[in-house]
Amino acid sequence: MSFCFNFAVPAQSTNPDDVDGNKLQNEKKDNAAKHKEDNAKPTEPVKEAKEHLALSDPEFLLRDAVTETVTIGTLPALHFLNETVFEKTASEREDEERILSRTVEQRSDLISGVYEGGLKVWECTYDLLELIEKDGETFAGKAVLDLGCGAGLLGILALQRGARQIHFQDYNSTVIEQLTVPNVILNCQENDEVDSEDDKEGCGKGKVQEEDGCKKKQEEKQEVIDGNPPAKKRAADLSQHQLLAKCRFFSGDWSTFLALVKKEEPQPKYDIIFTSETIYNTAYYPVLHETLHKLLAPDGLVYLATKTHYFGVGGGLHLFETFVEQGGVFTLDHLWDGEEGLQRHVVVLRFRTAKSI
Ligand SMILES: C[S@@+](CC[C@H](N)C(=O)[O-])C[C@H]1O[C@@H](n2cnc3c(N)ncnc32)[C@H](O)[C@@H]1O
Repeated sequence: MSFCFNFAVPAQSTNPDDVDGNKLQNEKKDNAAKHKEDNAKPTEPVKEAKEHLALSDPEFLLRDAVTETVTIGTLPALHFLNETVFEKTASEREDEERILSRTVEQRSDLISGVYEGGLKVWECTYDLLELIEKDGETFAGKAVLDLGCGAGLLGILALQRGARQIHFQDYNSTVIEQLTVPNVILNCQENDEVDSEDDKEGCGKGKVQEEDGCKKKQEEKQEVIDGNPPAKKRAADLSQHQLLAKCRFFSGDWSTFLALVKKEEPQPKYDIIFTSETIYNTAYYPVLHETLHKLLAPDGLVYLATKTHYFGVGGGLHLFETFVEQGGVFTLDHLWDGEEGLQRHVVVLRFRTAKSI
């Protein structure tokens, strides 16, 4: 069985006033947020944000892991857990949120307010990676947020390319603990391996070759000898890992995530915010907009990748663009529009003027 694009959305209307301090919502609820399909308010209480401080045991998480690698042009190879295998082993995993069993039972990619889809890599993530490759974005010294990160490939790329700090946020703690963190660890360890191969042989990068400028995925079964993970997977003290030390991991809904980080001194501001396939539900626009507004650095950029329309939930680029335009805080420019039939886009948001910050 494979996950399908079937949004299981309880029918209940949105109460826009729930959104903390969002003046924009009250003023603009006439249009984007009042779309006829805007009935996707979760029936369960939203998940309270928390930071995941104690990172899970990588030996355990990566034991017997089947991984995939994506390489896009000159970008560093990105490694992640294979979603089919992950799905097949779902019943053997502990998961306090019970999202693994529920997604399998309901054959759904998304259960609004319960599971927001982070257990697989969505295709617009690849569009954004390709755009970054063409644009040559360098992350050196930047603070980056991967908002609604899922597998975390965008944040992992920033990490590989020298970002100063990378924060990963996903709605579900299960996603952070069982997918995002293991993926980050996997890439840190692969990075160590490449570095040591480079030291030995003066080569090692670009092991997975690009084909015709397109991404190429590889599946690798990690060898397990006598029940022990291969040497490269035996992590030393992770807390000491240079790359991992730049990362922080958060789960929970955007409003409580924002409240949590706003308490910090100094409050984090990000030079780059990535957000891929996160505008499918118009009910979340106010809080998503507020989060971007409050957390983007004055000269920062939000890279947003999306489908034109999300059938069944009702959100999509046009409605989000209208929402953003009416808010008057950001400009929104199209960086890439899929050719006919693709119906996918990458856009960038910037603050309109310094005054709006
Ligand atoms: C469809 S998944 C996309 C995952 C990933 N960005 C990708 O492209 O593969 C949408 C993500 O948005 C996040 N999300 C959606 N609604 C949210 C909300 N109200 N609060 C917090 N996160 C939310 C979830 O973390 C979820 O993983």
